[in-house]
Amino acid sequence: MVKKTKYLKIDESKNLSEQLQEAADIIRNGGLVAFPTETVYGLGANALNAEAVKSIFAAKNRPADNPVIVHIANQNDLSRYAIEVPNIAKTLIHAFWPGPLTLVLRKSAEIPMEVTAGSETVTIRFPDHKIAQELIRLAGVPIAAPSANTSGRPSPTTAQHVLQDLDGKVDLIIDGGPTNVGVESTVLDITSQPPLLLRPGQVTFEELQAFLPDLQLLTQLTAEENVTVRSPGMKYKHYSPKSTVLLIHAHDRATFEKKVREVLSSEKHQLQKIGVLSLDELSEKFSPYQVSAKTPSKYAHILFDIFRNFEEQEVELILVQAVPATGVGRAVMDRLTRAADEEVWI
Ligand code: TXA
Ligand code: MG
Repeated sequence: MVKKTKYLKIDESKNLSEQLQEAADIIRNGGLVAFPTETVYGLGANALNAEAVKSIFAAKNRPADNPVIVHIANQNDLSRYAIEVPNIAKTLIHAFWPGPLTLVLRKSAEIPMEVTAGSETVTIRFPDHKIAQELIRLAGVPIAAPSANTSGRPSPTTAQHVLQDLDGKVDLIIDGGPTNVGVESTVLDITSQPPLLLRPGQVTFEELQAFLPDLQLLTQLTAEENVTVRSPGMKYKHYSPKSTVLLIHAHDRATFEKKVREVLSSEKHQLQKIGVLSLDELSEKFSPYQVSAKTPSKYAHILFDIFRNFEEQEVELILVQAVPATGVGRAVMDRLTRAADEEVWI
């Protein structure tokens, strides 16, 4: 179904609630609204309305077996949508909410099966963004929202990215400027023993380990322990621009640059438009499409935007520098390895 997508640019100098009234009405009436959070833009619908939630999957072309996160704007709502909330959840919430930490908990009867893709667990998060919070409050219902991209594409960090993917498929896009974090929230399963980090994000494995000494990474699970059952989203290809992505694991800047030179001078790639995305500031300009992040946090912040930007400029091959997989770097590497068509270690 083609919709007429409205676009709402938030004016900081005006009253926020008044500007969001129409968006809240749309959510309450079963429509779809894309909105900013501190991580990436979300594609929101009333989480208590099964039909509205189904329309999220259609708009994104999302497989029906991949559950979505429920967004709340008041900590007390947690015990309404989750049951058997363990004490550790309360401790983590105290430390990290509002913020980019999503908790997997046992769902209450109020949450429809469409949200959880048939699972008895639900993911809940309290975003640290005033537009998201005000929208949830005004709507008066929790908002189910995956990232507001077409399935498989890089997540949107600006309203323009949302428009590229979802124009004609959502009722309203709220433009609240670029998001701050740039990669999606950390997803933590505390229903399992030991607790499991399903998706790394800005709230890091190391920070969570301080509260959960036996915390495991999803990647530490063996095949028999069934990774795809624990985190259904992880089996799909993700974050991919149309350009080919070559992820280069190099010891240092000089080794990375050597590989870049080698690719640029090879016959196979001579006529290609090549982009370079690095952590380190490089010693020369290899390409007109070259960006250095300088820090892992900045890397997370720009990653999806650069992918979309290079793609728009018809860059055919992107040479990407790997980063150490600790702290926020772990989240960056998770997204890079999923986006990569090929990886080399040198
Ligand atoms: O930062 C974010 O989390 C953004 C913003 C919009 O809040 N949302 C987001 O949603 O990234 P999405 O749907 O793109 O990613 C949610 C991830 C998926 O990998 C999904 O499989 C997993 O969370 N997930 C959702 N519910 C789950 C559940 N009950 N059990 C295990 N994993 C779940
Ligand atoms: Mg997503």
